[in-house]
Amino acid sequence: MIARLKTSLAAAILAGMVAIPTGGALAAGEGAPVPDRSWSFSGVFGTFDKASLQRGLQVYKQVCSGCHALDYVAYRNLEALGYNEDEIKALAAEYTKIDGPNDEGEMFERPARPADKFARPFPNDQAARYANGGALPPDLSQIVKARPNGSNYVMALLVGYEDPPTNVEPAIGQYYNKYFPGHLIAMPPPLYPDGVTFDDGTPATVEQQAEDVTVFLTWASHPDMDERKTAGVMTILFLIVFTGLLYATKRKIWANVH
Ligand code: HEC
Repeated sequence: MIARLKTSLAAAILAGMVAIPTGGALAAGEGAPVPDRSWSFSGVFGTFDKASLQRGLQVYKQVCSGCHALDYVAYRNLEALGYNEDEIKALAAEYTKIDGPNDEGEMFERPARPADKFARPFPNDQAARYANGGALPPDLSQIVKARPNGSNYVMALLVGYEDPPTNVEPAIGQYYNKYFPGHLIAMPPPLYPDGVTFDDGTPATVEQQAEDVTVFLTWASHPDMDERKTAGVMTILFLIVFTGLLYATKRKIWANVH
């Protein structure tokens, strides 16, 4: 009886884990309801798809990084995308960091190193706003966590540009987006067909670029998700085996008691 209770408890915990919501909530404000997608990382057994992560990094580097920082990601974190040390060194060295002051009290430029965080597009928020008609492009390293239903929302936003309805007149520097709360966003549509050429030869439709960069940004917000899921599954397996052992022990101890 107790064993049965325990097994059903374990089953309930498992079911709970499987049912952890991966989305479904509406974006805040008046944006249209965001479509739910099935992502490779959804569910307890879902993991990040490395090829998609690498393509997403390419989209971030070639498109989004012109306006958006990625303050919480260091180049060496990209090991999780499947790059080796030399590749990461080379990747970091494409960027310049301001360092210092040196012995003469001067700041100086040097090539970025793997331990550095991603270089920012603008020296400060004022410069970022000035270049974007007064709107601040938010840091993207936590954006998937910061928005309700984050992955589905970012995906929808990137493909959600439309002609405005006739009664809506966007001001200069405003664009109509179905999913942005309030619909008028200061980000110009960032993605175009073949706007990037993927290193792995995948056709770069807008949808594909949006999906890959969303996977990349989801990883940036949850870099330890794969490990946490593995640990969770191992814990549940352990609990199930442990329950079985307890049950067997109990039967053995009580076998001769009548
Ligand atoms: C030309 C500059 C520019 C580029 C390139 C750009 N963005 Fe933006 N982005 C902005 C600005 C400006 C805002 C703020 C919009 C506002 O508040 O109206 C923004 C806002 C956002 C937001 C937040 C929306 C919200 O809910 O507040 C996301 C997510 C985003 N961008 C993702 C991306 C991604 C992903 C890329 C690359 C594919 C990208 N952006 C490329 C300028 C840019």
